[in-house]
Amino acid sequence: MSIHGNVKRVTTHTLQKMKENGEKISMLTAYDYSFARIFDEAGVDVLLIGDSAANVVSGFETTLPMTLNQMIIMADSVVRAAKRSFVICDLPFGSYQGNSKEALNSSIRIMKESGAHAVKLEGGKEVCDAISRVVSAGIPVMAHLGLTPQSINKFGTYAVRAKDEAEAEELIQNAIAVQEAGAFALVLEKIPAALGEKVAKTLTIPVIGIGAGGGVDGQVLVMHDMLGITKDFSPRFLRRYLDLYEEIKNATGHYIADVRSGDFPNDQEQY
Ligand code: KIV
Repeated sequence: MSIHGNVKRVTTHTLQKMKENGEKISMLTAYDYSFARIFDEAGVDVLLIGDSAANVVSGFETTLPMTLNQMIIMADSVVRAAKRSFVICDLPFGSYQGNSKEALNSSIRIMKESGAHAVKLEGGKEVCDAISRVVSAGIPVMAHLGLTPQSINKFGTYAVRAKDEAEAEELIQNAIAVQEAGAFALVLEKIPAALGEKVAKTLTIPVIGIGAGGGVDGQVLVMHDMLGITKDFSPRFLRRYLDLYEEIKNATGHYIADVRSGDFPNDQEQY
């Protein structure tokens, strides 16, 4: 019997066992109750309230404007829908970088006010104190390396990270450091597949990739990208499973036409 097919609620323990058993972990972002309910019923292992909400929900260019309050409001809705999935909420930019106490206070707010099961933060050695302190309070922490969108102003570009040997070695050292600090899992974003596989083999904790190739322990996509709601974002790693942008636009066009023609509502659609 598979590990994932045998649990009523996915936990950090489930994810660890899935890695050890060679079972790939599925993860998707979600930002509200209705979509989270569908993803949970479909059987996704992990739901992430990503600060990518800044882009796909709020229309900002970067993830930096997201606030802790906004993250908590979204996470609260996702948690209410998730009966089986493990729910992780991003710590937004500015809510943990100051010091480990700030990271702990922000994480406690997320756990208390939303009911999420874990938090995620971006960075390597520089956030290890924060990871240890949050974990020591009993809060599981997922780390995030490679392309870390909260540092976009430092990188200056969303291009593939760690292509040269020095940056690849630095990433491996950071991955080991966050594991030693107590992170229960790691997201790797937009790095060469060979490096993703190497990190997944080096670490004992699950490594989830987004544009990190097939050699990692699981995959995550932003729901709006996976469902084809976003139109202008087409990185090589993205597989679209629907073209919802066009479908929703067509349906909306039909609705407008029916209202204008008086076809909607018909006799059966009124009291
Ligand atoms: O914010 C987000 O959606 C993320 C995923 C891309 C991993 O961090």
